[in-house]
This record gives sequence, structure tokens and C-alpha cells, in this order.
Amino acid sequence: MQEEKGSIMAANVKIEDIAAAFRYVGAVPGDLVLYHGSMKSIGYVEGGPQTVADGVLESVSPGGTIAIPTLWYTGKLPGRSREVDFSIETSPSWNGAMAEAVRLDPRSIRSNHWTHSVSAIGPRAAELTASHGKGRMYPSPWSDTAFAEISPWSHLYEWNALYAFIGVDMSSCTMKHWIESRYVSRILDLLPDERRQEYRDMLRHDRQTVGICFGIEGPKMQHYLESLDLIRKTKLGKAEVIAIRTRPMVDNMLKALTAAPEKWFPADFLAWREKVLLETRAK
Ligand SMILES: CC(C)(COP(=O)(O)OP(=O)(O)OC[C@H]1O[C@@H](n2cnc3c(N)ncnc32)[C@H](O)[C@@H]1OP(=O)(O)O)[C@@H](O)C(=O)NCCC(=O)NCCS
Repeated sequence: MQEEKGSIMAANVKIEDIAAAFRYVGAVPGDLVLYHGSMKSIGYVEGGPQTVADGVLESVSPGGTIAIPTLWYTGKLPGRSREVDFSIETSPSWNGAMAEAVRLDPRSIRSNHWTHSVSAIGPRAAELTASHGKGRMYPSPWSDTAFAEISPWSHLYEWNALYAFIGVDMSSCTMKHWIESRYVSRILDLLPDERRQEYRDMLRHDRQTVGICFGIEGPKMQHYLESLDLIRKTKLGKAEVIAIRTRPMVDNMLKALTAAPEKWFPADFLAWREKVLLETRAK
């Protein structure tokens, strides 16, 4: 674990405090940084969530890009029930004021995906958000395009982005679902083509609450990555800021899930996995 040296404890948090905290946890000029966060966790931020965006942007300047999930579909909010109801221009995100600040910023570009869109500002924003959902699909409980081969989530991995949390833990980690999608697809790939869909259908899909859940726990994942000394931490106002590079996050988690799935997944998913392996061995 890194020492909490660059701690910022001032009552009113300013743009330079945000930039300093993000630099401390690893942001460098030209970087790509995605963040999740809670405004209230920080205390009073001068200028509100827009200042958070500007501060994170400052930490990667010159030449850097910032990104935040601007998730629309929840399964619970009225009027957010179908892909066709999503408007890239007007559909609000549910995941907090920081996300809305970036989505509404005239400099930002949003990816066109109704469950897992990302909004970004900076020179790589267009490339990051383009063609969300194209290429090979991967399983998720919401849609199999959310974490597709071509998606901001895949680019975050390919570009080894800095992935940060302000006052929230890895319960909020959307990248966790990308990891789950890759793990599950590796198992499905063991099956012959004609058997794959049947097994895919047994797992949670199409934003239904039925079907086998293949989620892992965010805090447990955080604890594990902390034990590998991969997470940097500091304070921003009253909040803890934590950050990790996306490649070590993903690579270490996929390794851990593969080595000991029983430590991570629910029992019904493990039974599903056993069934696939049995069928594969029987061939
Ligand atoms: C849910 C969540 C957003 C709630 O956090 P929050 O701090 O209560 O709410 P927001 O970040 O939306 O900020 C709004 C709050 O900031 C406060 N606020 C307004 N201006 C502010 C300022 N200048 N400085 C600090 N706080 C301010 C508002 O009063 C508001 O609180 P209220 O609702 O009690 O009035 C947060 O806990 C969380 O989970 N964030 C991550 C979500 C995510 O990315 N999930 C991904 C899922 S895969």
C-alpha cells in the first residue's frame, strides 16, 4: 500500500487540490483517466462537480483525456425500459452529479450505448467513445454489446487507463463487469458452436432479474488488488481517492478467477461452470 503522503485536508476543495490528488495516485500528462465518485464524500468543492472534471483534466494536462460512465438504464427508473427509449443527447445518467457534469459539458463526447455509455473530454474522447457495441459481443446481464470488443470499456483496458474512485469503493467499479464478461466468455468458448447459446441463456441476460448471476463482489476485488499492492491512495477533502491501472486490475483478476473460481462466484454459477466443463470433457 502506498503511503498517504499527498493528502489534501482543506475544508474547501479547489481545482488544484483535485489535480494534485490525481497526480499523486498516478495520473500523468497525456493520460486517460476514468473516475467514479461521490460529491458529498469530499466535503465542499468550489464550483461543484464541474470543478472535479476540470481538476481531473488538469492532472492529465497537457494532452490528457478524462472519462466517466454515464449510465442510463437501471431496470428500476420509470421510462428507462428499452433500448429505443435511450437518447444519446438527452438521456440522463443515474450514477451521480460528477457523471452528469461531464455528460452536460459542451466539450464532452458520449458513447452511444443505452446501458453502459461513457462520456469523455479530451483528445482521445472521440476514439474512446466511437462505435460502442461493435465487434465481438461478450456476456453481461444487461446487454451483450455493453462490453463488446469495440467499446470504451475495451479501450480502457487496451490503453491501460488510470481507473479511479473518489469517496466510493469498487462496489461502483463498472470495469468489474468487463472482467466478468471475459471470464464467462472463455468458458462458453469451450463449447461447440451449437451448444453455446443454450448455456448463455441460462445466465442472467437482457436486463432480467432471473437467470444465474455471474457477478463478483467489488469490495472483495478491491481487497485482493490492495493485497497485491496495486492500488494507490490519497485523501481529497474528506474523501479517499483510490486508483489502479486497468491492465493490472484486469489481468490479475482474470488470473485469480481462473485459479480459484470458488472463491469468487456464487454457487449456482459454479454449478453452471461445472456442467459446461463436464460436457466439454465428455466430447
Ligand atoms: C450514488 C452516488 C452518486 C451518491 O453520491 P452523492 O455524493 O450522495 O451524490 P452526487 O455525487 O450525485 O452529488 C450530489 C450531492 O452533492 C452535493 N453537492 C452539491 N454541490 C456540492 C459541492 N459544491 N461540493 C460538494 N457536494 C456538493 C449535493 O448537495 C448533493 O447531495 P444531496 O443529494 O444530498 O443534495 C455515489 O455514492 C456513487 O455510488 N457513485 C458512483 C456511482 C457509479 O459510478 N456507479 C457505477 C455502477 S457500475
